[in-house]
Amino acid sequence: MAKFQTIFVTGGAGYIGSHCVVELLEAGYEVIACDNFANSVNGEKGTAPSLERVEEITGKKVTFYQCDLLDYERLNKIFSQNKIDCVIHFAAMKAVGESMEVPLLYYKNNVVGTINLLEATVHYSRGNRCFQTQFAVNVTSKPNYLNTKCIHICYHGFFFLVMKAHECYQLVFSSSCCVYGNPERLPITEDSPIGNVTNVYGRTKYLIEEMLMDLSRSDERWNICSLRYFNPVGAHPSGRIGEDPTKPYSNLMPYIAQVALGNKPSLTIFGDDYNTPDGTGVRDYIHVMDLASGHVAALAKVEKDKLRYRVYNLGLGKGLSVLELIDLFEKTTNTKVPFVWAGRRVGDVDTLVCDAQLAVRELNWHAKYDATFNLGSGVGVSVIQLVQTFGKVTGMTVAY
Ligand code: WQD
Repeated sequence: MAKFQTIFVTGGAGYIGSHCVVELLEAGYEVIACDNFANSVNGEKGTAPSLERVEEITGKKVTFYQCDLLDYERLNKIFSQNKIDCVIHFAAMKAVGESMEVPLLYYKNNVVGTINLLEATVHYSRGNRCFQTQFAVNVTSKPNYLNTKCIHICYHGFFFLVMKAHECYQLVFSSSCCVYGNPERLPITEDSPIGNVTNVYGRTKYLIEEMLMDLSRSDERWNICSLRYFNPVGAHPSGRIGEDPTKPYSNLMPYIAQVALGNKPSLTIFGDDYNTPDGTGVRDYIHVMDLASGHVAALAKVEKDKLRYRVYNLGLGKGLSVLELIDLFEKTTNTKVPFVWAGRRVGDVDTLVCDAQLAVRELNWHAKYDATFNLGSGVGVSVIQLVQTFGKVTGMTVAY
């Protein structure tokens, strides 16, 4: 397969997307990015501050489009105006805790809504590649929150149709360890059972993986790699980009950082009775820069081999409990993180830790940051950057 030159990154202004764009530029690729700013900072006149910082960090340009994946005209224009060799697809909304608050609405909108929409509005036949854009109209005709999750799933189905219409069959998809549900066996390997998912966010990723598998079986031109990653944390060593969600968030690390910055009074620990050494949830926290390099390694694999459809875990293979992460953060930043106890969060599982050996063997990918986020320098580099990033973004300074 010819060497890729131009990579289209959806969700490129977001936390993981922006860090991935850094690595892509450093690897010599040209990058086109789009984002609808659903969960990233929107600058003036549709610019993306996070990508402007990426340009500062790398000294290279990013072509950016403010674009919602359901805006068929705009998406089509991006593909028509650029020769895109491969897509890295991050654009998604993730709300594990939130998705459990009103499950029936989510199942109805996401699963039933998607099947109705995809069947009713997409007449897609070989030869005359035509598909009706009611798909976008139906879904966005009621642009309210209730449809948001339905849009989330529909993005992907619709998006792949646009790719195919432009003869772009290479894709690296950002999936999630959530597809494993509550695993029977640890560490989790790629052949562990999927689909028995405990939260709707994970179920949307599972459904999209199934869709990708069907796509690759239906047409041998598709060359797809899904990356199931675990819990991303940390920030670029420069501290210029990091995790700064614009929507209410439920993830542990950004919450800890906000408490450290004094923006939240205390952290709530959900559950002390999990089947783990200290009773709190254990997760496989992977540094976002390692995650970004994993996406570049996957891109190289898609560029070189005909995968059809292949899945890789991206994680460290080591677990940290909530209490251990708090302790590590406090030691590294010399900042107390007060917390209170509460019951379990619906949808949470005891432990999610992966076996990432397949990615090591087949992608030649190696995580650089260890579980304590040290770069071998004995200092929790990424955690400091995280606080530093929040310091820069929020104008707060935090002693550490
Ligand atoms: C981690 C632990 C909570 C918040 C993640 C993300 C995303 C996905 C993998 C890719 C759990 C506990 C949390 C809080 C707490 N990756 N917690 N108090 O649930 O593993 O979901 O799945 O898609 O990274 O969606 O991450 O950070 O929400 O929770 O006690 O205020 O921290 O119970 O044990 P989770 P999380």
